[in-house]
Amino acid sequence: MTTSQSDKSTTPEALGRVTFLDGQGELPMLEISTPWSTAGIYLHGAHVTQFQKKDESPLLFLSQCSRFAEGQPIRGGIPVVFPWFGAREGLGQHGFARIKPWDLKEFAPAPDGSVSVRLRLPDCPEASAFPPFTADYLVTMSQSLTLALIVTNLSKDAEFTFENCLHTYFDVGDVTAITIHGLKGLAYLDKVASFQEKTETRDAIRIASEVDRVYQNATGTVEIRDPRLGRRIRVDKEGSASTVVWNPWIAKSRQMSDFGNEEYTRMVCVESGNVASNSISLAPGASSTLTVKLSSEALK
Ligand code: BG6
Repeated sequence: MTTSQSDKSTTPEALGRVTFLDGQGELPMLEISTPWSTAGIYLHGAHVTQFQKKDESPLLFLSQCSRFAEGQPIRGGIPVVFPWFGAREGLGQHGFARIKPWDLKEFAPAPDGSVSVRLRLPDCPEASAFPPFTADYLVTMSQSLTLALIVTNLSKDAEFTFENCLHTYFDVGDVTAITIHGLKGLAYLDKVASFQEKTETRDAIRIASEVDRVYQNATGTVEIRDPRLGRRIRVDKEGSASTVVWNPWIAKSRQMSDFGNEEYTRMVCVESGNVASNSISLAPGASSTLTVKLSSEALK
């Protein structure tokens, strides 16, 4: 089914469109096109797998070896990590939101050409370990991609403590050639060095080995400069106090069955959220919103 909003002042080409189809693994997905961009969103995990501006190569990396199956995370795109980040004893890594089929609540092609899609995490047995809550995800596509994860604590008397993270995989020309900016001076947990706390000293971070870092109190914009693709990517965020930078490098890539051995050269994760000491505690009835805007332009 294809739909577009009719507006007499706008030509059909200038409106966004949403198409429903079976994606890989026959999982339901939406293909979105706007006058500036195309995107793909799977209901499985509310997972944005693709975003591409018309005159650019894809913004997001998606592994050729990814699984597309119920109960399994998709490798690449933007996994929604919630309500915990990382390992939790006896439970799956990075929470259950990324492996549940989300409900599609609304999609709205707007007169300005942008398209917004709103999804909601359905009730599930895993959620019963937490106070009652709702988690909504609003994805807006135009020249840029904006993601908002809104969590509301529905409990009358209990706090809801959780972590969240939009685990964004960016497509890069060559990971050893990129530089990452905006994190200088911040403390980080170095997961590759047994969670040692260190301080970032570099203006321009380069990747030449396995990197797995949780930057704390990191509220600012991060930029990725990619000379091979001639592109600058901006990650602007609000309601986020953590930035995670991850590249699995050689040995870890070989251990991951859903990731190609050489694919680490073509990706970097710069993840925005609230994890570890920056987790969120919501008072009864309160809401929090994590907003991330991804944009790109030619590198001059
Ligand atoms: C990162 C973590 O956010 O996600 C890494 O910091 C982890 O430690 C990576 O390896 C990928 O996690 P997963 O569960 O998708 O393989």
